[in-house]
Amino acid sequence: MKGIVLAGGTGSRLHPVTRGVSKHLLSIYDKPLIYYPISTLMLAGITEILVICAPEHGAAYRSLLRDGSQWGVSISYAIQDDPNGLAEAFLIGRDFIDGQPCALALGDNIFYGAGLSGQLQVLAALKRGAAVLAYQVNDPKRFGIVELDGDDKPVSLEEKPETPKSNWAIPGLYFYGSDVVQVAEQVTPSARGELEITSVNEAYFQRGELTVTRLQRGTTWLDAGTFDSLLEASQFVQTVEKRQGLKVACLEEVAWRRSLITDDQMRERANEFKNEYRDYLLSLLQSES
Ligand code: G1P
Repeated sequence: MKGIVLAGGTGSRLHPVTRGVSKHLLSIYDKPLIYYPISTLMLAGITEILVICAPEHGAAYRSLLRDGSQWGVSISYAIQDDPNGLAEAFLIGRDFIDGQPCALALGDNIFYGAGLSGQLQVLAALKRGAAVLAYQVNDPKRFGIVELDGDDKPVSLEEKPETPKSNWAIPGLYFYGSDVVQVAEQVTPSARGELEITSVNEAYFQRGELTVTRLQRGTTWLDAGTFDSLLEASQFVQTVEKRQGLKVACLEEVAWRRSLITDDQMRERANEFKNEYRDYLLSLLQSES
């Protein structure tokens, strides 16, 4: 399965900060926000990744992420000229997807928790239909919402409903079969003028091809789209990292633990840094030698 990270949009909720820098390049404690969704895709076993960003930020992403080989993956780039909605990712990524199954990770969504990688790897093996996650939230009006029956089968889907039918939000990590481009082509703009990802999910749901996996309460899902949520996400990562001495979403570590890079490549990469990040990567090599 291939994977797209969507890092477009104007970041208007974060103005004036995002007048000068892309939201997904802002710092979540000790790493850029976009590292987190990239790590999610890598943990799902996905190694061919397309990053979609706004025209003015292309150079910054290329300079940060390069071709991905430093993490044993392939990263390519495409531009979303206007913020036309999340489902446009599949139209922009049509050539990259090339008739294969494809996952979409929103550039501001952070996942963390034991057992999550295994759950994601199962979903990333999907060939047909669509698979989404569900996560209990206390502010369901802010999200795409799914209503589930007793067997976890979806009953209804709604994007940011005024009166939510459940408090199960659909996080920004979606898995689709090889027909996702054709499905996205059929989507028409919503009342707010966007090609909604919920419309793509609704199309699969109508065909009886949407499965929903509930994330356990021990899993953390954060979206870092506001000043408060950015700060909270940073504090969460800081708390976990300081307590355990292990980093969250350290792409070199993910790559190395998944044998996507060798010890030598890890050492070489570590030496690109002159700070605690370098020490951390070298300490991993030491601890397992
Ligand atoms: C988007 C989706 C929504 C989803 C959310 C997850 O909303 O439209 O369905 O639940 O991402 O972060 P946005 O936050 O872009 O408004």
